[in-house]
Amino acid sequence: MKQVYIYKKFERFWHWSQAALILFLALTGFEIHGSFSLLGFEKAVLFHRIASYLLLALIAFSIFWHFTTGEWKQYIPTISKLKEQIQYYTVGIFKNAPHPTIKSARKKLNPLQAMTYLGFKLLMAPVMILTGLLYLYYKTFDVNDIIVVSDIPLEWIAWAHTLGAWLLMAFIIVHVYMTTTGHTVTTNIKAMITGWELLEEDEQKDSETNEVDEIKKEIS
Ligand code: HEM
Repeated sequence: MKQVYIYKKFERFWHWSQAALILFLALTGFEIHGSFSLLGFEKAVLFHRIASYLLLALIAFSIFWHFTTGEWKQYIPTISKLKEQIQYYTVGIFKNAPHPTIKSARKKLNPLQAMTYLGFKLLMAPVMILTGLLYLYYKTFDVNDIIVVSDIPLEWIAWAHTLGAWLLMAFIIVHVYMTTTGHTVTTNIKAMITGWELLEEDEQKDSETNEVDEIKKEIS
């Protein structure tokens, strides 16, 4: 086994602060929705707004980070080994079968993760941000007579935003379950806290060999 530095400092900061903000937005959001009473409606609205601005700032920094470091490439979708990965999660994992894909610093995500996280970034997050901003500035749009927006009833926007919140909660439950499917139950979570992950040395070599092969393929 070999310790590999897999998650960089900003990446870990971004991951955990995004998780905390989303959970806090869910807590305050569902209080606004009327699901329960904890902070009180006014405070829930105020805190939901503050947290949403913080999330927007964090997302802006993370987009910048992904592009300047080239880490965005981790999310390029591929169907290579996708079937094997689905088979692993649905059948193999319960029979102690080996992981069908190899993890390395250059390839942190298996094909299913890459696709899911890309969906989160390109679909789920934009829907929450767009409906949230429409909700936030609805009155402003209305006063300034921005036709397209003020023609949409506010209830529809609230409904879409709440549906997005439910989907996001489902995503988080599946995501947390998936994080327990590493070498041990806590391997992946520990790696996202410390940055380091214990990977099989052979796997590491294999992955490096695979990567060299891939680079060769790309060049030829
Ligand atoms: C940048 C992102 C977001 C923005 C701009 C935003 C904005 C808003 C606004 C303006 C409201 C209405 C309350 C108010 O007037 O302040 C609201 C309600 C709500 N938000 Fe968000 N939000 C965002 C992200 C989230 C996230 C990530 C969640 C959950 C995971 C969430 C869940 C909810 C829920 C459940 C409601 C109540 C909807 C209703 O029943 O009317 N929001 N949000």
